Amino acid sequence: MKKQILEVLREHKDTFVSGEDLSKKIGVSRTAVWKHMKQLKEDGYQIESVSRKGYHLVKEGDTLDPNVLEVDLKNEYIGKKIYHFESVDSTNNVAKKMAHEGAIEGTVVIAEEQTKGRGRLGREWLSPKGDGIWMSIILRPEISPSEAMIITQVTAAAITLAMRKILHEDIGIKWPNDIVLHKKKVCGILTEMSAELDSMNFIVVGMGVNANVDIEDFPEEVKDKAISMKTYFGEAVSRKDLTMQILHEFEALYSDFAKNGDIKKTIDICKKYSVTLGKRVKIISRQKEIEAEAIDLTKDGQLLIRHDNGEIEEVLSGEVSVRGLYEYV
Ligand code: BTN
Repeated sequence: MKKQILEVLREHKDTFVSGEDLSKKIGVSRTAVWKHMKQLKEDGYQIESVSRKGYHLVKEGDTLDPNVLEVDLKNEYIGKKIYHFESVDSTNNVAKKMAHEGAIEGTVVIAEEQTKGRGRLGREWLSPKGDGIWMSIILRPEISPSEAMIITQVTAAAITLAMRKILHEDIGIKWPNDIVLHKKKVCGILTEMSAELDSMNFIVVGMGVNANVDIEDFPEEVKDKAISMKTYFGEAVSRKDLTMQILHEFEALYSDFAKNGDIKKTIDICKKYSVTLGKRVKIISRQKEIEAEAIDLTKDGQLLIRHDNGEIEEVLSGEVSVRGLYEYV
């Protein structure tokens, strides 16, 4: 219903639509129209109502309500089905449960708040209510488990393109899963899978975008490393526009990979916007810490480093610190 009311209001964006016309067009009572208008206003839509003239949509709201997202998103399958929750423990947990129960590829889970948001390496991910984009996507690619980490690169590339288009800012990728704004982490990606030894059941890729989080809310230990868009720009950004753009870019890059086996575009984007390549890096893997130079990404998205003795090595995963970013100076 909300969806239909919004469609009519948008069709008449320069004029008023009377309550009577709305109720006739949609086939509900004028009281029902009034109730939905009230809800839309609560969702942040600015709607002018003038007696004897009706309603006029002044400004779109910043809701992640699927009624709105599913209408506006022009994708084929990523985000065709969106589940939106007020509060969950972790959208990745909810998405994994849905995937086990048979949810289709492209299903998206979004929450206003996560009470147990998870980061990589067992870390906590702060996810305060209404302030960020806490979102997971269910994928069912026909790939081997060893290729799953490419999905992190696809996601990093999609988020970077989306943020650059919407924010017109210098957004970078710190390999493999951090998105960086002004030398600080603005978004993290957590890719998880359910697989047999040689076959994939599903992948859930979760992303946490610090859109409008207040810096004071960050835990003490991440305050120096993390940033939110609101802190940087001094005003809130549209979570809805960003979410839609991310899902749009994601569908294009993911389809290239999963349907056509083509990952080149993703890797090119990851290289172009990398804040890791060409820098001195510290890598902690299996209790060992090494320092080397990050020189390239392989065609499968792994990091190539050059040791001080000239030896070249491929890094599959691990904790990477980049000199000049976060706490590594
Ligand atoms: C990291 O940088 O350590 C990864 C952070 C991933 C956070 C997102 S928020 C949505 C999804 N649900 C979770 O519990 N985690 C991911």
